[in-house]
Amino acid sequence: MKNYKAGVVGTGFVGQIHIETLRRLGNVEVVAVADTISTEQKAKKMNVPAYFKDYKEMMEKVDLDVVHVCTPNNTHYEIAMYALEHGINVICEKPITTTVKEAEQLVKKVEETGLTMALNFHNRFYPMTHHLRNIIKDGELGDVFSITGTYTQDWLLNITDYSWRLSAEESGKTRVVADIGSHWMDLVEYVSGQKITHVCADFSIIHPIRKKSKKTVLAFSTEKFDDADYEDVPINTEDCASVMFRFSGGAKGSAFFSQVIAGKSVDIDVLIGGYKKSAQWKSEICNQLAIGIKDSFHEVLEKGYATVHPDSRSVVAYPIGHAEGFSDAFKQCFAQVYNSLDNPNTPRDFAVASDGLHEMLLCDKIFESNQLMSWVEV
Ligand SMILES: NC(=O)c1ccc[n+]([C@@H]2O[C@H](COP(=O)([O-])OP(=O)(O)OC[C@H]3O[C@@H](n4cnc5c(N)ncnc54)[C@H](O)[C@@H]3O)[C@@H](O)[C@H]2O)c1
Repeated sequence: MKNYKAGVVGTGFVGQIHIETLRRLGNVEVVAVADTISTEQKAKKMNVPAYFKDYKEMMEKVDLDVVHVCTPNNTHYEIAMYALEHGINVICEKPITTTVKEAEQLVKKVEETGLTMALNFHNRFYPMTHHLRNIIKDGELGDVFSITGTYTQDWLLNITDYSWRLSAEESGKTRVVADIGSHWMDLVEYVSGQKITHVCADFSIIHPIRKKSKKTVLAFSTEKFDDADYEDVPINTEDCASVMFRFSGGAKGSAFFSQVIAGKSVDIDVLIGGYKKSAQWKSEICNQLAIGIKDSFHEVLEKGYATVHPDSRSVVAYPIGHAEGFSDAFKQCFAQVYNSLDNPNTPRDFAVASDGLHEMLLCDKIFESNQLMSWVEV
């Protein structure tokens, strides 16, 4: 197995998960990190030997095979482009950029350089979502006519909850749609094999003005401050989005995305209706897949080597009864990306720059549809 050297830009919530997960692959060494805040402290905590305030310096001074981009959305373009220009492969967090134009430029650069640029749409890599894709491909559900679901969270419910994600400048035109809707849309397109062709959206903002802490707060923080430590900030991104979809294979559907539904920390729900059977996957019970059969008992399949589709065994790490979750899905995604760098014939289920561009286009069209209050073609 070839060994690789990785550098991680952004060591906040998700950057730390990338580092921990990469170490579990066995053939990837995290040799450097770059972050603008508390750089040395974070590198030492995570035992990474080299650390930089400037990602450019990291890429120039350290020999890297892959750069992981784990920073706020509005910085993805410049960091990923710099890496590609310097001959370094990229694994970028979603959404790929904040604009369609930037995403197009990255796709072009990937084509010119022949380098890999993967997107961490990790939900493709839960064993039971991977299995779902394969049984739909095999026709087990029959033709799929309905794709519905939700992606709900509650970490921005309170008026004092604040994050860079709330600002359109850092997040992009859409917030909930780009941040979590993009995961749901990528997942349902991946499992169904059908692309979204038309959208009709309705947004709402439950706190038009929020109280922002004057201190730096990391994503998903539950810290509370005195009243004097907050300032009023107008909000221009959606807290909730209801979206209807039409798909390329004839399916129709809808989804509700929100970060303000109390009690929902991370709840992804996908329900696929076919002419023979239905299937439902929920992130809260991610090791199971429910198969709905008319006039019969539901089948609840449990993740395991023997229970999943033969083509999904490669993303199962442990036997039945041994739970695999969020960071395991990252691990399976990264394993495929690194394996593919020198072995073009290995499985490539991971999302690439062109998938990231497609999701950006969907975010743009959903934004446009909400403004026009009508259906928009993608
Ligand atoms: N795949 C997933 O499930 C998942 C989960 C969470 C976040 N994300 C994505 O990961 C990205 C980061 O989100 P997060 O929750 O970790 O945010 P965060 O705020 O916790 O961390 C961001 C980090 O980036 C650093 N940073 C900002 N600008 C920088 C720059 N120019 N150079 C170097 N470092 C810089 C910040 O100091 C901070 O440490 C976002 O794009 C988000 O959408 C993906």
